[in-house]
Amino acid sequence: MIYSKNGACWCGSKKKYKHCHYEFDQKLIQMKMQGYEVPPKSIIRNQKDIQILRESAKINTAVLDAVAKKICEGMSTQEIDDIVTEVTHAHHAKCAPYRYEGYPKSVCTSINEVVCHGIPDSKRILKSGDIVNVDVSTIYKGYFSDASRMFMIGEVSDNARKLVEVTRQALQAGLDALKPWGTLGDIGHAIQQVAESNGYNVVRVFGGHGVGKEFHEEPFVAHVGRPNTGMVTAPGMTFTIEPMINEGTYDVEIDPEDGWTVTTKDKKLSAQWEVMVLVTEDGYEILTQ
Ligand code: MF3
Ligand code: CO
Repeated sequence: MIYSKNGACWCGSKKKYKHCHYEFDQKLIQMKMQGYEVPPKSIIRNQKDIQILRESAKINTAVLDAVAKKICEGMSTQEIDDIVTEVTHAHHAKCAPYRYEGYPKSVCTSINEVVCHGIPDSKRILKSGDIVNVDVSTIYKGYFSDASRMFMIGEVSDNARKLVEVTRQALQAGLDALKPWGTLGDIGHAIQQVAESNGYNVVRVFGGHGVGKEFHEEPFVAHVGRPNTGMVTAPGMTFTIEPMINEGTYDVEIDPEDGWTVTTKDKKLSAQWEVMVLVTEDGYEILTQ
């Protein structure tokens, strides 16, 4: 489609196209001609989208902070779900996981060999030595936010602690590799390097994702890759980076009983940290902090 330079910008900003996304489009056209995969316009957020995504993400962070304050040995994962529900509702927001594609609870709690999508349960009591990922997702004014943290309960083994720390470093390396007009492959490559140089493996079948008015949007954000490949990271994109890193094999399996709980195939430990980012003109902004 051809846009008139003096007409309204396609992003909905109400600015003239020539003063808004004209140069942006020229840059993308150029990169596309060079063979890069470029993002569709539908995942480029305007200032209004970004403002509400920031608000949604702020609430999501407050919920994670509330969990961080209370989580301890002896607590059930259902109690984590209760905290998440209460704090989310107090902010006039909704828990995105609740009834999402039939998911039964409001948060994911993934312990030890559970990679992701662990279901809170009043019978699962946190014990000393557990490493647990709490993955919180919020809907506010129709906009989604998504982030997760690891918690170490009581005395954890050196192995477990190292996995948690290296996974945090891998996420940071991914962030360090994120730049406007770079590629998703830059991010995946950086994460994979940190994980594999420590003898770990990166889960392949799950990745990060675009996030906006839908929970999971384009693009799929792989946590492995090669530099200078994959979709271009353009200003205005919002997506998660959420590496799942395993002590052993990267292969996983889904519990056939509940249809959700993902574990490592070899039942060795897995860790994950997740942030949601906005690509900006000169770098990125972590929305969930
Ligand atoms: N929060 C998860 C993510 O990072 C998705 C959870 S979907 C659910 O993508 F249904 F399991 F909650
Ligand atoms: Co996510």
